[in-house]
Amino acid sequence: MESVRGRRIVVGISGGIAAYKAIEVIRRLVDSGAHVAPIMTDDAHRFIGPVTVSALSSEPVHTSLWDDASPIPHTRLGQTADLIVVAPATARVIAAYAMGFSQDLLVATLIATRAQVVICPAMHTEMWEHPSVQDNLALLRSRGVIVVDPQEGRLAGGDVGTGRLADPETILSAIDSALSGSGRDMEGLSVVVTAGGTREPIDAVRVIANRSSGKQGYAIAEQAHRRGASVTLISTVERPVVSGIEVVPVETAQQMLDAVSLLAPSSDVVVMTAAVADFRPVHAADGKIKKHNGIPEITLEATPDILASLGAAKPAGQTLVGFAAETDDVVANAQGKLQRKNLDMIVANDVSAPGVGFGHDTNAVSILLADGQQIQVPLATKHTIATAVLDSVVKSRTTPRP
Ligand code: PMT
Repeated sequence: MESVRGRRIVVGISGGIAAYKAIEVIRRLVDSGAHVAPIMTDDAHRFIGPVTVSALSSEPVHTSLWDDASPIPHTRLGQTADLIVVAPATARVIAAYAMGFSQDLLVATLIATRAQVVICPAMHTEMWEHPSVQDNLALLRSRGVIVVDPQEGRLAGGDVGTGRLADPETILSAIDSALSGSGRDMEGLSVVVTAGGTREPIDAVRVIANRSSGKQGYAIAEQAHRRGASVTLISTVERPVVSGIEVVPVETAQQMLDAVSLLAPSSDVVVMTAAVADFRPVHAADGKIKKHNGIPEITLEATPDILASLGAAKPAGQTLVGFAAETDDVVANAQGKLQRKNLDMIVANDVSAPGVGFGHDTNAVSILLADGQQIQVPLATKHTIATAVLDSVVKSRTTPRP
């Protein structure tokens, strides 16, 4: 957690049973050299004691707009913060922040800051799934707030479902990734990222698809945007995304090829995170293939290799990054793709390993560079992986090529 050393981090704690987990987050931040200024809402006091929070933080806990030595604590806390994290964030705090309703010191501080904000919701499944909560979070995401989604597990009262506060490790990883990528070191670059799995039609209702959720591609696009790049995201999936990123929706490999080919010649960086189908039906039936006609024979053909065609036509100065989804001989297979497709970098993931690749919130990768360097990134959130990939991109662009 080198990224937090010497940084001022405001940790906001609102009223939920998971408030006790904020103590571990605070302890780990302080141990890593951060200056932690804690804020507790009135309701948070019902779950944990302010003495514990003060004792572990770098300064006494702030609780009210009125009882601080400073007459305007929210502006001081908001203006001096490098990052604000709210864990747990209740539905009420999320709503107040989204609507700009400055109800207490925590929300006033959130509104008074220009620092990166990380929101870690925790609530019962019914509340988490309610459209009002999801709409408020979508609004916050579109403004650039990082949302660390809750996990599935045991909730207060013995219920089981989605809504449990993310574990401290995941929250710390999101903070680390936000601070590592907080410099605007991609200012002036135009970046194209692809995300999701292509869907190749069999007939009017059926497709050949894969398990890509788009999470890794979206994390790269968001991270590049945060670092100042102008980002276009060509995606087969619809996910919430920060405003300022242009999203081009596509479905098939051919549509993705058409969209990427239009933008790639004038792009500084192209990252092919998408899982493109290797095969597609030669003919897609116009209507629905009927079951009573028997089992159909579907002849497949190869799809265009988008990355290979980008590599063949790569303009001078462009950084072309591929991904490799492998299950065995991971590095050797990825190395082959790096060379055959004329890439500058390939990010290899062993998609048979637990928590790695398709659909997970986490990933673990080897970044292989054309000059032979290899960087291992152990299991971490997809935002942390995105930071590592873009760090390598930025480094390779600023290091003179031999
Ligand atoms: O979306 P998530 O759920 O977050 O999962 C992330 C991921 C597992 C999809 C991602 O980490 C990943 O590995 N993406 C690449 C998947 C893939 O198609 O790998 P591949 O080894 O088959 O292809 C190698 C490269 O060639 C990829 O950059 C791919 O985009 C590209 N390709 C492949 C086939 C094709 N016809 N055209 C291509 O451009």
